[in-house]
Amino acid sequence: MTATLEVNELRKQFSVGRPAVDGVSFAVPPGEIVVLLGPSGCGKTTTLRCVAGLEHPTSGTISIAGRVVSSPAQGILLPPRLRDIGMVFQSYAVWPHMTVRQNVVYPLKHRKIGKTKSTRMVDEALALVGLSEYAERPVVALSGGQMQRVALARSIVYRPQLLLLDEPLSNLDAKLRLRLRDDLRRILKQTGMTALYVTHDQSEAVVLGDRIGVMREGQLLQMGTPSEIYNRPADLFVANFTGATNELTGTLIQRNGTFGTVEIGQGQRVEASLLHGLAPGDKVRIAFRPENIAIGANSGGNIVRARVSDRRYHGTQTVYDIDVLGHRLEALELGTAARHEIGTDAAVSLPRDALWAYRDQGSLAEK
Ligand SMILES: Nc1ncnc2c1ncn2[C@@H]1O[C@H](COP(=O)(O)OP(=O)(O)OP(=O)(O)O)[C@@H](O)[C@H]1O
Ligand SMILES: [Mg+2]
Repeated sequence: MTATLEVNELRKQFSVGRPAVDGVSFAVPPGEIVVLLGPSGCGKTTTLRCVAGLEHPTSGTISIAGRVVSSPAQGILLPPRLRDIGMVFQSYAVWPHMTVRQNVVYPLKHRKIGKTKSTRMVDEALALVGLSEYAERPVVALSGGQMQRVALARSIVYRPQLLLLDEPLSNLDAKLRLRLRDDLRRILKQTGMTALYVTHDQSEAVVLGDRIGVMREGQLLQMGTPSEIYNRPADLFVANFTGATNELTGTLIQRNGTFGTVEIGQGQRVEASLLHGLAPGDKVRIAFRPENIAIGANSGGNIVRARVSDRRYHGTQTVYDIDVLGHRLEALELGTAARHEIGTDAAVSLPRDALWAYRDQGSLAEK
């Protein structure tokens, strides 16, 4: 069984500080994976813990499979064990004195499932996470990635209607994290489970999520498919957080449909996509990705003068610092050759689809 999760106007105020979660609403349809993505302290874990019933929300409603499990206004607060959810956390949370099989069968013991059936369910769960051959091993004789698979198998063995995962890969080394990240999506999709996954890692969010919700300071700024988040970020924060780290400032001169002409200083003008409702005369900030700057101006789009002030060779790519009208920008070029020398003047091209103009509400760094 897999279920819809609905979170409506969720708010959690701890005894100190600003609200950890502040009016968050979203829905996860059956079988979908939604990832909550945001920087440390933005309220991801608190949201997840409210869904699990481990935290008491201040207000708002949470429903699982159409049943209200939490609503302070109605005096409803279902305990975690009655919510039929599975949970996987950052720490491996396996029982060290048991074997893999004993760990995974554990949740079934409380559910009064017969021996034959429970053996089959454990075998299925172990096969899903690729640990069939390790069933009889003590968990202490496993690697970190294998232990996290045991934790995953244990949380899906009873086929809960909803799976909650809080940064389950963050204790693993980089290589293992990448492998398990890809496996995890396959495993979740094979079970067909509805999942809510929390991380501060963009690449994890993009690979795993059917949809991503970007959070900041207790609020959900945008919820959309990875492609929507990456190609139409709703605001400057989402753009920056997902890698569009370059910024130019200017004034909107005129609108041309969904594009606009922006004066960026010294008479220099660029065409940019308008992602906010903007009018001529408005001050704007333009965000764009380092990989969308082409040094050498041969690929069309807006052409601006720049100076290469530094470069960092990374082997398969090179990152350049370039100065454009007093702004320090980063440009990234793929390839094993670093082609531009420090100190040279170059024209750079900036495609207008990749330049996103937002109303200037001050730099995020200044806030
Ligand atoms: N028990 C608590 N009492 C008081 N404040 C808390 C408590 N738990 C969390 N907070 C605060 O709520 C805010 C959100 O915390 P939360 O753990 O949800 O963030 P997060 O997005 O999961 O961050 P991270 O990526 O670091 O895990 C933070 O400012 C945190 O300090
Ligand atoms: Mg957290």
